Amino acid sequence: MHDLLITQATLVNEGRLQQADVAIKDQRIVKIGSDLTSEPAHKVIDAAGFHLLPGMIDDQVHFREPGLTHKGDIATESAAAVAGGITTYMEMPNVNPLTINAQALEDKYTRATGRSRANFAFYLGASNDNLEEIKNLDPQAACGIKVFMGASTGNMLVDKPEILEAIFASAPILVATHCEDTPMIHANEEAAKDQYGEEVPFTEHPAIRSEAACWKSSSYAVELAKKHDTRLHVLHITTAKELELFEPGDMQGKQITAEACVHHLWFSEEDYPRLGAQIKCNPAVKRKADRDAILEAVKEGRIDIIATDHAPHTWEEKQGTYFKAPAGLPLVQHALPSLIDHYHAGRLSLETVVQKACHNPAERYQVKDRGYIREGYFADLVLVDLKGQSLVDKESLLYKCGWSPFEGHTFKSKIIATLVNGQLAYENGQLNDEVFGQRLTFNR
Ligand code: DOR
Repeated sequence: MHDLLITQATLVNEGRLQQADVAIKDQRIVKIGSDLTSEPAHKVIDAAGFHLLPGMIDDQVHFREPGLTHKGDIATESAAAVAGGITTYMEMPNVNPLTINAQALEDKYTRATGRSRANFAFYLGASNDNLEEIKNLDPQAACGIKVFMGASTGNMLVDKPEILEAIFASAPILVATHCEDTPMIHANEEAAKDQYGEEVPFTEHPAIRSEAACWKSSSYAVELAKKHDTRLHVLHITTAKELELFEPGDMQGKQITAEACVHHLWFSEEDYPRLGAQIKCNPAVKRKADRDAILEAVKEGRIDIIATDHAPHTWEEKQGTYFKAPAGLPLVQHALPSLIDHYHAGRLSLETVVQKACHNPAERYQVKDRGYIREGYFADLVLVDLKGQSLVDKESLLYKCGWSPFEGHTFKSKIIATLVNGQLAYENGQLNDEVFGQRLTFNR
């Protein structure tokens, strides 16, 4: 007897679309077939007309716990994630206290257990003085090592060249970097202050967090990775220029990979006059030409993974002037819908969306038994109506911060259901309060 049978869905998986039935038992997909309707199941979902995707695996989120929970917490932000079709997330270390040792990591896993709606893993953060923690890291204890090679929210800049060399030379698992050159940014900030005083317009953000600052830092990261044969993943690429640093083609066999985030694929500098602080983030949203080049790079394979960098701040915090308003925006509830809008606009195929947002993060981080619709794999799935519509209004938002840069937009799809480990975590607009995610394990 199956726990659940999903019938007649169009599966988007492993580079193709295929109509099939999917049977689920004990958290996992047990059978995929063209006609399983005669097999007994406790529950059947008739998915005719809907598309079934592997749940999105978001390799970059900030859920703000511990210490910054007025902005968001593991319970609230993971609820928004499953409502948006994200079934697994990897969470960042710039919280308070910083996640820079094994004990702080374990504290996060304890916090997430029984509260996180989606499956979870956490990064160990690098600092200028935790090299021994990095070297001694249990490869099952973290998804990756996060290195802020440029300063952003939180005091986590790693800027000592000898420390960076040592991290790249000795990291036991993948190194994920935030790349922006901080001295260049400080100089640009001073120049902007000279020109505008405290009232710097938000339109200056891409000039301050400039293309040159991104290039200097990301080219340095790639140079270090080549020198030390590091498994490097460069997060949130924002400029066309940086794309030269990455190889096109399939991700398989690459030692250096790159990520793009949904807001950098959506917004451009033309949106600052309308949205201002709402789209202030690091690295900055840049020109239309950059956005379009990154979209092309997704197709070409220079960008391997699409994620969110979900980084909520309260509305009140965002009302500050340019230097006071913190960088970052909430995204997990609308990431997959935004990618499906790109599909509807003819910019990305569904197969590419699934490869970049589901398969590749699982492969790159060596996640065990997730990221594909495969027999034996966990049933982390999202059922989508591509003909549906979802208006983003205040009432629909699950983020603790209660705002979204997409408010007023109607996405051209509707998430019908999200399954986490075979259980309906979200269905027809309702969260299931009994369903929680699991700690990830890794093939390493
Ligand atoms: O915009 C950002 N916000 N970029 C980061 O790197 C950090 C994040 C945050 O934590 O707020």
